[in-house]
Amino acid sequence: MDYRKFIKEKIKEIKDVVGKEKALSVLSGGVDSSTVTILGYIALSKNLKVVFIDNGLMREGEPKSVAKTFQKLGIKVEIVDAQKIFFKALKGKTDPEEKRKAITTSFYKDIFRKIIKEKKIKFLFQGTILTDIEETVAGIKRQHNVLVQIGIDPQKEFGYQIIEPLIELRKDGVRKVAKLLGLPKSTYQRMPFPGPALAARVIGEAKPERIAIIRKATNIVEKELKNTGAFQYFPVLMEDKATGLRNNKREFGNIIIIRCVESKDARVATPTKIPWKILEKITKRLTTEIPEVVRVCYDITPKPPATIEYI
Ligand code: XMP
Repeated sequence: MDYRKFIKEKIKEIKDVVGKEKALSVLSGGVDSSTVTILGYIALSKNLKVVFIDNGLMREGEPKSVAKTFQKLGIKVEIVDAQKIFFKALKGKTDPEEKRKAITTSFYKDIFRKIIKEKKIKFLFQGTILTDIEETVAGIKRQHNVLVQIGIDPQKEFGYQIIEPLIELRKDGVRKVAKLLGLPKSTYQRMPFPGPALAARVIGEAKPERIAIIRKATNIVEKELKNTGAFQYFPVLMEDKATGLRNNKREFGNIIIIRCVESKDARVATPTKIPWKILEKITKRLTTEIPEVVRVCYDITPKPPATIEYI
């Protein structure tokens, strides 16, 4: 594919569709939403409103660091604090699909609809890619940004139209476009991070206290495994508990699983052979820096039969 031509065509298409109206782009910091934001900004300039929804489920410092990346490119990002809305929606939900649905509804119905109404916006940009649609339609996984393809009419349901400039591309194509558009390497080569964010890394209910544990653990694991150059690495907080010893007392505490895999496109994956020393260091850090954690395990299951994520 000629990606330069693709960019030119998409910018023209966006201009034609939006005209003199206003559009909204919701950044998550991932390569898809970042690419869409830049395309929208080139096409619409000040008529594009860019927001980052702080849903309380992002990694440490993520809202500010994403806003900073775009500020450097001359694009103003408004951070919207929506933590209460998301935790209320997730309350009592333990089923993975229900958790995903709660997050989707909070985004589209409660938050986007309000911003769009207030700012008199007609269009919403989405970084949906071909794989998102394929997986949702095939029933592999419900991606939060797939609507029309599963029979949801956004205009009717939420009151706005959706623009999806990346719908023909897969991840590798998006990364190429992102690079051509001048996004930094930290964005176009960013490790995949699921739409439901840290709620996908907590088995069972994603309560604020449990999200806080996995946020700390994610910070540690990402730092310690950065040099492995693996495709993806992250911790997962289990719902089950296990006995540990702390200050000579038995304690029934939390279990964290470390997942680190090699993969090309996430369709198949093999576990990384992490040196024992690194695993020991991570275990020590997790169990001392996070008092709620008493046990750490390393997952050596390939995909298939396991998936990369746990929910
Ligand atoms: P799985 O777990 O199906 O993930 O092997 C494949 C890749 O997709 C990324 N990803 C998601 N996974 N929910 C998920 O469970 C999502 O909303 C999502 N978005 C992206 C995942 O991190 C892995 O790289």
